[in-house]
Amino acid sequence: MPLTGRWTLTRYLIEQRRRYPGASGELNALLLDVSLACKALARIVSRGALGSALGNALPAGGSINVQGEVQKPLDVLSNEIFVRMNEWSGHLGGMASEEMETPSQIPATYPRGKYLLVFDPLDGSSNIDVNVAVGSIFSILRAPADVLESGRDVVEADFLQPGAAQVAAGYAIYGPAAQFVLTVGDGVAVFTLDPDLGEFVLTQSNVQIPADTQEFAINSSNARFWEPPIKRYVDECLAGKPGPRGKDFNMRWIASMVAEAHRILMRGGVFLYPRDSKDPSRPGRLRLLYEANPVGFLMEQAGGRASTGRQPMLGVQPHELHQRIGLVFGSRNEVERIERYHREPVASETPAPLFAPRSLFRD
Ligand code: AHG
Ligand code: MN
Ligand code: MN
Repeated sequence: MPLTGRWTLTRYLIEQRRRYPGASGELNALLLDVSLACKALARIVSRGALGSALGNALPAGGSINVQGEVQKPLDVLSNEIFVRMNEWSGHLGGMASEEMETPSQIPATYPRGKYLLVFDPLDGSSNIDVNVAVGSIFSILRAPADVLESGRDVVEADFLQPGAAQVAAGYAIYGPAAQFVLTVGDGVAVFTLDPDLGEFVLTQSNVQIPADTQEFAINSSNARFWEPPIKRYVDECLAGKPGPRGKDFNMRWIASMVAEAHRILMRGGVFLYPRDSKDPSRPGRLRLLYEANPVGFLMEQAGGRASTGRQPMLGVQPHELHQRIGLVFGSRNEVERIERYHREPVASETPAPLFAPRSLFRD
């Protein structure tokens, strides 16, 4: 299809900005730099085994990241691409990433700006060697005023802002097509990379997630570590038509959260990586600042919901940069049901009803 009549990401951002006459255009410029990093990664990922970025051989300096996870060469390279393509612009006060233990400072040779960029440069990196979709996730926050005024270094505390404070968030997915999915707080828009033009082109705006679904995603190998409300929810889904839900469910697990989030944005569903007891030092698998919050912002902007199970994700006050958290997101009615199950007493705490087996009137 010719580009005529289609909007590029640049045009979408300019049309958005026209609604805010006071806006400087800095956020737009920052988002375009982020999208350029994503285009560079889309190119590398699409070369697959023909390129040199795959494999497990650790590059010099690559090792175990701050999460205690093995860094793959592409984890390291994607982090480097994000940092280098965003540090020069003067729009950022600093950056933080899954792959960097402490915040990254803007080099003294460049001016410092009013935003903070937080990212997971490569989500689903275990899938890279098997040619399954991976992605990059980003969140943009405002830097504290004195970062801009004094040009001081950023510190971890500057990034500890609840998801509700995000100015913009999104992800790129490197799948059969590369797509860039964005919210600037006015709905969710999807852009598809035109590889000939090297431009992200708007292919869907005002994405709306169906409120109901019959599809759920959870890593059920963790079932024995789940808390009772999650067990109950999944058991009820598995019980299907004859069970309490009265309908059959389908299950999906890609192991790239970006790809699960994208499927859910496109056709509904619910994703759970809940808090569990697998490792008491890790309250959940996914990270609050660069996984749960940006995806949460997108979900809410598309009429869905994101939660810890106990409280809305965007209301959580972070206490550390690489904090992990239980995450449930997707179709609104399902997420609300899971939240309700967390509020209701668990079965073992519920007094046995009179006519249940083992009750007084059992025959
Ligand atoms: P990352 O590659 O950035 O470490 O994230 C991987 C995450 C997420 O994308 C996915 O949902 C989850 O890990 C998969 O976890 P399991 O290995 O437990 O399935
Ligand atoms: Mn990730
Ligand atoms: Mn990652």
